[in-house]
Amino acid sequence: MRKTVAVVGATGAVGIEMVKMLERRKFPVKTLVLLASERSRGKKIKFRGKPVAVETLSEEEIPAVDIALFSAGAERSRKYAPLFVAKGAVVIDNSSAFRMDAEVPLVVPEVNPHAIARNKGIIANPNCSTIQMVQVLKPLHDAARIKRIVVSTYQSVSGAGLEAVEELITQTKAVLAKRPVKHKVFPHQIAFNVLPQIDVFEANGYTKEEMKMVNETHKIMEDYSIAVTATAVRVPVLRGHSESVNVEFENKITADEARAILRNAAGVVVVDDPSKSKYPLAIDAADDERTFVGRIREDSTVASGLNMWIVSDNLLKGAALNAVQIAERLL
Ligand code: A2P
Repeated sequence: MRKTVAVVGATGAVGIEMVKMLERRKFPVKTLVLLASERSRGKKIKFRGKPVAVETLSEEEIPAVDIALFSAGAERSRKYAPLFVAKGAVVIDNSSAFRMDAEVPLVVPEVNPHAIARNKGIIANPNCSTIQMVQVLKPLHDAARIKRIVVSTYQSVSGAGLEAVEELITQTKAVLAKRPVKHKVFPHQIAFNVLPQIDVFEANGYTKEEMKMVNETHKIMEDYSIAVTATAVRVPVLRGHSESVNVEFENKITADEARAILRNAAGVVVVDDPSKSKYPLAIDAADDERTFVGRIREDSTVASGLNMWIVSDNLLKGAALNAVQIAERLL
């Protein structure tokens, strides 16, 4: 049956991809409602070749829809998601607002699809860096039981929204033209730089982004015994998050065994031929629905351990695609 679908935050970095993804995956949309802030009212976004006008999100006019994909920030999700649910919608929320709520399933369809059935109107889409990591690690966990994960991320600016993308482009032009560089979205210049800070710091010295990777991994993998420690880093890349992941296992697993398992993992592609300099790259992952893994090698400092390099498009598997895949499961 065809569905009435709303995209809340339709003009943002993720919202734009959500609209494209609904079309690309032939989601059975009967009517598409696009919502954003007042400043975008009347703006037209193409869906299946026809322009759809963006409407203003407001408490007074909550549309009755079957499915609402939210990507307008945690503040808007907290305020509006319950209002959409009250009108009969299932909300798939890309923000952090409900991710750690015990009542809200946090879902990566390749990892814990069964959790979807427990929803009470809201389903949370995990953090982009967490999605691509657990998608690759879950089959390895099933095979050899993960004890500990040490992850460092190399995250693109699009994860911080369209304004952040503009900031990198503007700063890059300014540096090349030897003009002064201004920053607003990021705490420092991001062009030609690397920032070991994503989001704000918590009392324990980790950033919010780093703690999301710890807490969300536990919830999605449904295993709180896995030790996870993360360093989240912003790099001057437009699209695609890369991750260096070190994993220690309870049982023996070789690099060859891991590659064989990952070749059969849903949505995962093994790109691992170091002699030909073949490994996952952010520029290759951009606009691709798949998650890429390579540089798989044994960690000789522990009895059973692997190092690997995981790359995916943060706007697709890390956000819009994962949300639409959840919607597909709802059908
Ligand atoms: P708008 O473009 O009208 O500001 P991004 O993550 O790329 O920064 O995008 C954020 C999305 O959230 C945009 O679609 C933006 O709409 C939307 N948004 C931001 N603030 C509001 C708000 N107060 N009400 C509705 N939508 C909002």
